[in-house]
Amino acid sequence: MPAIASAVQRARLTYLSDEKFISLRDAIRQVRHEKVPGDFVEYGIALGGSAIYIASELDDDRHFHGYDVFGMIPSPTQRDDDKSKARYENIRSGGSKGIGGDTYYGYQADLFDKVSASFTDFGVPVDGERIAFHKGLFEDTVHFHPKSRVALAHLDCDWHDPVKFCLERTIEVLSPGGLMILDDFNDYGGCRTATDQFLASHTDCRLVRTLPHAVIQRS
Ligand SMILES: C[S@@+](CC[C@H](N)C(=O)[O-])C[C@H]1O[C@@H](n2cnc3c(N)ncnc32)[C@H](O)[C@@H]1O
Repeated sequence: MPAIASAVQRARLTYLSDEKFISLRDAIRQVRHEKVPGDFVEYGIALGGSAIYIASELDDDRHFHGYDVFGMIPSPTQRDDDKSKARYENIRSGGSKGIGGDTYYGYQADLFDKVSASFTDFGVPVDGERIAFHKGLFEDTVHFHPKSRVALAHLDCDWHDPVKFCLERTIEVLSPGGLMILDDFNDYGGCRTATDQFLASHTDCRLVRTLPHAVIQRS
């Protein structure tokens, strides 16, 4: 387990388990070892825990791009399962507890500033260049220049529509050998449906593993 991953867990900045961090570490090692060109991106930052870990693993001239509303998570749709809808209803009604009894991140004022401060505390300051945040709905913020390249994308945005959207946007710029990690593949039905449909229509992508999350590789 990477030390910085344990540290963000202790600081109650992440929902990721040890197993997910280890698989994420292995994915990062793989793209670095195989010299897959491109940036690291995360869709779904919340309190910043997994993003801090990913940003701490930047090598060479890679950049990190983090995308989130930095506020209340948008609602699921009819394409999501009952578990997702119940989870969202709990959040929307004000009943959600945060990690370790903290205030749930979506209810916190100044979340963007708090997450930025956490990045600084962990030695990966958000400078808008090497490490950049993009605040807003993915639909408004995820626009890649045709010449940009992504080596690794961590999709941690829970519901069907954002997962589908981010997969479709990322594949346009994902380098050969690049990886996309679906954090919620085993947690929320909409994420699994969006992933399965994506794989069925993108034959140049294969499912590398499904535990503890799904990992897709582009050939
Ligand atoms: C489960 S949290 C991310 C957890 C985090 N990666 C960690 O280490 O614990 C999901 C995040 O996705 C964001 N999100 C979901 N749908 C979104 C959308 N359409 N646009 C922007 N952000 C979205 C939510 O605001 C929330 O912060």
